[in-house]
Amino acid sequence: MLQTLVISGLAAHQEKENAFRQSNKEDMRLALQKAMISSKSNEWATPQDFFDELDEEFHFTLDPCSTHENCKCERHYTIEEDGLSKGWAAHTVFANPPYGGNVAPWIKKAYDESKKGATVVCLITSSTDRSYWHDYIFPYAAQIRFIRGRLKFGNSKSGAPFASAVVIFSDKIKYIHKICYYGESVSMAKRHGRKQVSVT
Ligand SMILES: C[S@@+](CC[C@H](N)C(=O)[O-])C[C@H]1O[C@@H](n2cnc3c(N)ncnc32)[C@H](O)[C@@H]1O
Repeated sequence: MLQTLVISGLAAHQEKENAFRQSNKEDMRLALQKAMISSKSNEWATPQDFFDELDEEFHFTLDPCSTHENCKCERHYTIEEDGLSKGWAAHTVFANPPYGGNVAPWIKKAYDESKKGATVVCLITSSTDRSYWHDYIFPYAAQIRFIRGRLKFGNSKSGAPFASAVVIFSDKIKYIHKICYYGESVSMAKRHGRKQVSVT
């Protein structure tokens, strides 16, 4: 009897200990994620091979949010020039907006400029609860490509602590599928045939 009580007491203690460790791990994971996302560094540079694959498809002419070091197009704007204040209409734009601040103005800008003739391809976090997803992306994006796995931004050896998506605003390209998945290394276009998914 005493033995049974001791054993069940030990089991309960072990269970509590495990739960504590688990919640501690979760707290640490969330704290790390928060620190990484809200870090002062806005320089989540797009992985070059990921960009190259999109560039092969779209032939970008403008990167409106960059530094001179991480820009993806010869024509680009830095924070000092303020890409948000410039016109993008004549361009095919690749935008990986700054992560430290507010993404919403960049998404609104992408939508507005697409109405003036630009095609704008945005690489953003897949934070589908945010208002800009509901105000602009879900109703007006030409296509949304959810990315499988985590991108390795900049020179990072590990994946980002957030999921990403590619969002395309364009009045010129009509896609059959508005929402689709996008393999991390094998593009949607390659998997399904570019001509089948887009009609220009
Ligand atoms: C996530 S990084 C993307 C860098 C690069 N375009 C790429 O795709 O690898 C966002 C960049 O936007 C720049 N940035 C921040 N505010 C900006 C602004 N108002 N106008 C232009 N660039 C800005 C940051 O300095 C940062 O380099």
